[in-house]
Amino acid sequence: MTTFDGTGLDSGTDLDRTEVDAAIHAVMAEVDTTFTWDYERSRPGLSRLYEKAKGSQWNATTDLDWSVDVDPERVAADLGGGSPAGRFAHLATHPESPVRHFGDAEWSEVGIELQNSILSQFMHGEQGALLCTARIVETVPWVDAKYYASTQVMDEARHVEVFARYIDEKLGGQYPINANLKALLDDILADSRWDITYLGMQIMVEGLALAAFGFMRQMTTEPLLQDLLRYVMSDEARHVAFGVLSLQELYRELTDAELRERQEFAFDAAVRLQQRFRNIEVWERMGADPDAVVEFLDTHSHEQADVFQTMLFSKIVPNCKKLGLLDASGGWLRERFTDIGVIQFEDWVDTSEEYESLDEVAADRAG
Ligand SMILES: [Fe+2]
Ligand SMILES: [Fe+2]
Repeated sequence: MTTFDGTGLDSGTDLDRTEVDAAIHAVMAEVDTTFTWDYERSRPGLSRLYEKAKGSQWNATTDLDWSVDVDPERVAADLGGGSPAGRFAHLATHPESPVRHFGDAEWSEVGIELQNSILSQFMHGEQGALLCTARIVETVPWVDAKYYASTQVMDEARHVEVFARYIDEKLGGQYPINANLKALLDDILADSRWDITYLGMQIMVEGLALAAFGFMRQMTTEPLLQDLLRYVMSDEARHVAFGVLSLQELYRELTDAELRERQEFAFDAAVRLQQRFRNIEVWERMGADPDAVVEFLDTHSHEQADVFQTMLFSKIVPNCKKLGLLDASGGWLRERFTDIGVIQFEDWVDTSEEYESLDEVAADRAG
């Protein structure tokens, strides 16, 4: 098999080749691209979601006001909940901190770098979502799900577009993809089971993104970022609902052993997502020893657990519960989520219906 990837190289046969053009990254996968001859609209939940998606499309070029001036330092301060030195009070002042020598200028730089890194990772994650939903169109055997997934492909293209443009025009500092996020996206895309694409992307990656966007939207006072997040969240809420509605049906039929495989996949994804927020690359860019910083944070920050890091799981945990994944196989995933300190979210609102209330696009048009 020869794949033209723009580098002129055969990426299909030489898995270990050095990526001559670092702008391209190929993931090998063997999947069944499935037709279905059953065109009956038998899944009303997915059907409703599809109608909603058709009516709530927006145009990133004309629906957002790109003319505003953005002050990256101000955005960083908002997102950090004040000065970065305040947010990392322990790191800034503790005598054993590896970065205790940082002054105000360095801490302000940390804030800007953190924000550029976080938004860059969301941009890369959005591209992962674009590829995953294109995959779901091909592999899911239900016609209602193929219809819906096709709308999500368009949504995700728009999300990549808005994050790339915001970073490029307003912040000006892109980060390459984080190693943990990249490994997770690769694993999701390399898996041949169609439900794993959903579980990895719709439930885990998008569940985390929805929670993070909600948090960022509350923190920021920058009008363009606020609007951008409001609209992206309207779409993301549908995407997570799509995952819950689809997998709920499938997972009712699976054996305990099959569910256990899904639990392990979900937990592995959770750990990698958590690690990606350790921002190794930021500490590196700041000239600090990232391992020393992470170790310091691990040993000194447990009493004042980072609200942002914990909130990231506020959608994932209730959605896993709704899918029956918390308590299958002797409560394996419940125990793991308890260990990493996120089980308290299990009874928070799950995302199967929440998309109606988060549809800011429809609200703006009605208003
Ligand atoms: Fe997205
Ligand atoms: Fe999404």
